[in-house]
Formats: sequence, structure tokens, C-alpha cells
Amino acid sequence: MFPEAFVQEHLAASPHRGVVFDPFCGRGTTVFQALLEGREAAGCDVNPVAACVSGAKCDPPSQRQVEKRLMNLQDGFRGTRKSVWEGEHSEFFQLCFHRDTLPQVLYLRSVLNWRRNKVDRFIAALCLGALHGGSHRSPSYFSNRMPRTISTKPNYSVGWWQRNGYKPPQRDVFQILERITAYRFQTPPPELAGQVKEVDVRKAGQAFRKLKGRVSDVITSPPYLNTTNYREDQWLRLWFLGNDRPLTSCTGGDDRHHSEGIYWAFLQFAWAGIAPLLSQQVRFVIRVGSRQQNKDVLREGLVQSLTQGLNRPVNLVNEGLSSKIVNTQANAFRGSKVSQLTEHDFLFTA
Ligand SMILES: C[S@@+](CC[C@H](N)C(=O)[O-])C[C@H]1O[C@@H](n2cnc3c(N)ncnc32)[C@H](O)[C@@H]1O
Repeated sequence: MFPEAFVQEHLAASPHRGVVFDPFCGRGTTVFQALLEGREAAGCDVNPVAACVSGAKCDPPSQRQVEKRLMNLQDGFRGTRKSVWEGEHSEFFQLCFHRDTLPQVLYLRSVLNWRRNKVDRFIAALCLGALHGGSHRSPSYFSNRMPRTISTKPNYSVGWWQRNGYKPPQRDVFQILERITAYRFQTPPPELAGQVKEVDVRKAGQAFRKLKGRVSDVITSPPYLNTTNYREDQWLRLWFLGNDRPLTSCTGGDDRHHSEGIYWAFLQFAWAGIAPLLSQQVRFVIRVGSRQQNKDVLREGLVQSLTQGLNRPVNLVNEGLSSKIVNTQANAFRGSKVSQLTEHDFLFTA
């Protein structure tokens, strides 16, 4: 993950004014920051959680539209027979959400048309942010205590809640959503809207036909070899977005990259996927991290994969700082088996 300042700094240093693109956009930091700076920007991510959150951020509806839809959803929920939302739920769901909160979560999960409607996408993104977290510290989380950044697995969570006697808090989801909507709109969104698509980077050329030949700045952070499994770590949020089997071994395009060879081949195809979008001169800012590969290996892998994937000469212009990532919340929950992650920044022109 990188902060807004990272994007800001690289945009300020760029001589180009074309479209800014992030093919692995995650939370949408690149696209959002570029829009704030008045640049046309777009991005894609294969993970529905990333696409929903960054899409909502980069192309939000108006506050009035959100408030109206929230009232309409609340009426819809009240008008639905209670029995529809009651019934058998696994031990995980009974312990994760209070018995008055779970029906609201289930209702929103079933009616929000987040892939087709941007008001619903915005509300779904708010729900994803509030779905789980440290609810003993904040009244804005729907769930029993959980980390905010990753969804712990069902059996682990149930055991932890039971051992510690933690009970789910009684939360009114609609009240929380009204509150966080007001909070979100305190800061005005960017004047420009950016397009974020739920697309595999390898198909970005077809998905963003209107951007053909117009991208001059790519600022991105590809998935790291052997690091996070985004689908596993976000399984409860993926469930909320409609995925009924989020914990299966299927990776849905976010290949696990367990072999170095497969990893670099994947990146080569990724760069080939965005090649049709690129203008004649492009700057690539790439932050990449690894637990095993050192900076030389990463630099070499990036140069090779870019040159072959783009099918044009690539120059390494600059190497930025390397930073060790020690205390991530995800690491804390995975125990000390996990080796240290180091991130490196590279700047290329092509
Ligand atoms: C290191 S994260 C990017 C983080 C981002 N820079 C941020 O600040 O939030 C890598 C992202 O690549 C996405 N990803 C993995 N495989 C992909 C693929 N085949 N196509 C598009 N996105 C993919 C993951 O879902 C993840 O969100």
C-alpha cells in the first residue's frame, strides 16, 4: 500500500499530462490523488472489494442521492417480513453480528446492486468499511471484535470470541450509515470522476478502449510474491459483496504467485495487458515488496517483464527508498512465522 503523498510527489515530478493509470489499484490511492490534482485517471483491480471501494471513492454520487437511497433502503427493510431475514445461520454469523444487526446486514447484502448502480456502490463501500473492526473501541463497526484490515477465518474467530466471552454489539446499521455518510461528505470529493473497473489487468486493453494510447503515467504496486492472499484476507467483505464461497482455494485472477517464474510471467502479461493504453512516452512508478527476493532480483525482474510485456525499450531512471514493513496488523494475526517484508520503489521510462 502507498500513501497519497507518494502519488503526489511522483505526479509533481512528471513532465507528462496524459491519463494516470493504476492497473492494480487496490484502495484507489493513485486514481483518487490524480483526480484531486486535476489529472484524468483510471484504474482496475481484479478483487471486487478493491473495485467497489476505489470505484466509490473515485466516482461518488451526491450526498443527497446517498441520503435518499438510505431512507428508501430503511423503508424496504422495515417493510420486509422479519421471517425472511431470520433462520439458520452458522455459529460464525451468530457470534459476529448481534441478532438485531444480522438481518440488516443480510438485507443490504441482498439488495445493494453495487456493480450496476453507483449510489449502491457507494453505500456498499461504506458497509465494507464498517463491516468489521475494533467494535469495543468504535461505535461504527457492525461486528463483534475483529481486526479491521483482515477478516479472520470463521473457526479462529469463533474460538477467540468464545474463549474471551466477547459478544456482538447491538448496532443499527442504518444509523451508522447515515452518520458515516455525513462524515464522508464533509470533505468535498474531487471535481473530476475517474473510472475504476473490476477487471483483470491482463484484459485492461480491451476494458478501457477509450484510453487507448493516452496513458502517460503508471503509478502502481503489483501483488507481491508469496505475500498476501487478498481473497482469503478479505473473505467477509467478499461475502458481503455477494460471493457465497469466498474461502475456496480459487484465487479469481489474483494468482498466488508461489513460484518466482510464474510471478514474473504474470507481471509480463500484466504489462502486455496495459500496453495498448500507453502513449509514446510513459513513466512507470512501481512499488514492489518481497519477503525473499532482494532489490537486485526485483529490479532485474521488473526490467525484463516490462521490456518483454511492453515490447519496447525500458530505462531505469531512479530507485527510491527501500522500507521494511514490520508491524502490519495482518502480520500480528498470523504470528511470528512470517518473515519480514521489504518494499522497494523503482522509476522507469518507456
Ligand atoms: C499491493 S496491492 C495494491 C495496493 C494499492 N497500491 C493501494 O495503495 O491500495 C495489489 C492489488 O493487485 C490486485 N490484483 C492482483 N491480481 C490482479 C490481476 N490479475 N489484475 C488486477 N489486479 C490484480 C489485488 O487485488 C490488490 O488489490
